[in-house]
Amino acid sequence: MNTGPRLILGIETSCDETAAAVLLEEKGLLSNIISSQVDIHAEYGGIVPEIASRKHIEAIDFVVKRALDEARITFNEIEALSVTQGPGLVGSLVVGLSYAKACAFSSGKPITGVNHIHAHLMACFLEKETTPQFPFVGLVVSGGHTSLYRVDHYLKVELLGSTRDDAAGEAFDKVAKILGLPYPGGPVISRLAEKGRADAFSFPRARLPETPFDFSFSGLKTSVLQTVRKLESQGKKVVVEDVCASFQEAVVDVLTEKTIQAAMEHQVGWVVASGGVASNKRLRNRLKKACQEKGLNFMVPRPVFCTDNAAMVALTGLYQIRGGITLGPDADVFSRLPVKFLKR
Ligand code: KG4
Ligand code: ZN
Repeated sequence: MNTGPRLILGIETSCDETAAAVLLEEKGLLSNIISSQVDIHAEYGGIVPEIASRKHIEAIDFVVKRALDEARITFNEIEALSVTQGPGLVGSLVVGLSYAKACAFSSGKPITGVNHIHAHLMACFLEKETTPQFPFVGLVVSGGHTSLYRVDHYLKVELLGSTRDDAAGEAFDKVAKILGLPYPGGPVISRLAEKGRADAFSFPRARLPETPFDFSFSGLKTSVLQTVRKLESQGKKVVVEDVCASFQEAVVDVLTEKTIQAAMEHQVGWVVASGGVASNKRLRNRLKKACQEKGLNFMVPRPVFCTDNAAMVALTGLYQIRGGITLGPDADVFSRLPVKFLKR
């Protein structure tokens, strides 16, 4: 991996974060700027796509310039660009891709389009202290996706299973709404769960034995809704902390069991987790413990690299450009996961 560009600018606008990062080689992160719109969308209880696109338009030039300034780099010194091409909100993706294409084609620099989920899987390589070894099993748990992958190389990723309905992060967000808690639900539920009893309610765990690496969280969400409504209709107090802890435990049980099962079946030495939900403390601790018990190495990036960021986009782009994967001027965004790319 020593040929090709060394200094790359990454841009991420797939959801509600406008982010830019400058990366020198694999481990030399020079800046990582994230401008979140979360406070704006919180007022509506979830992401409003049109507002997200408009906020990206407002923020992107400023965010990229700050990333360059903080890295003490001029745009002329940048050797390549990497941008999230999908999956995500189409309007938001279009802003990032159009901006990045304009920068690249007006300056003659190479540009590559990154799959956001692939980038989450590569985030583990941003950390200096630990470098996972191939092959590894990667769990991606975000607001829009919950999937298990076998990763044989930077650019060789095989889908093992994914959610049939809600993503884990989506379940956190929906349960927060049921409990009258603010958006996004993950951070607030995990905070409240620390003060609650995880065995207060026995919520369902969808194990799906026929397709053991697939997930389903919609039954769990419905069960939380029914439990809360029943307590309310009986005039009983809903101990929000207990609901949060019991719900979180159900999600963490399933994510941990299936990830370990995939690692054992595929006989890998490493397990990696990423995506917004991988910043959840309980999940991090349970995965770490379960891996130790099975003699597996475990790696989860710092929370700032688990939630959406452009550093992971820059890193994935570096591997892609070195592998000859670039974008042409007619490149478009994609809203859904390109299954063909992710399946062997
Ligand atoms: O990866 P991400 O930042 O954006 C997407 O690509 O979707 O993930 C966002 C999701 C949200 O659903 C949010 O509620 C969840 O990650 N999340 C958490 C935590 N922090 C963020 N879920 C559980 N515990 C957390 N600490
Ligand atoms: Zn994400």
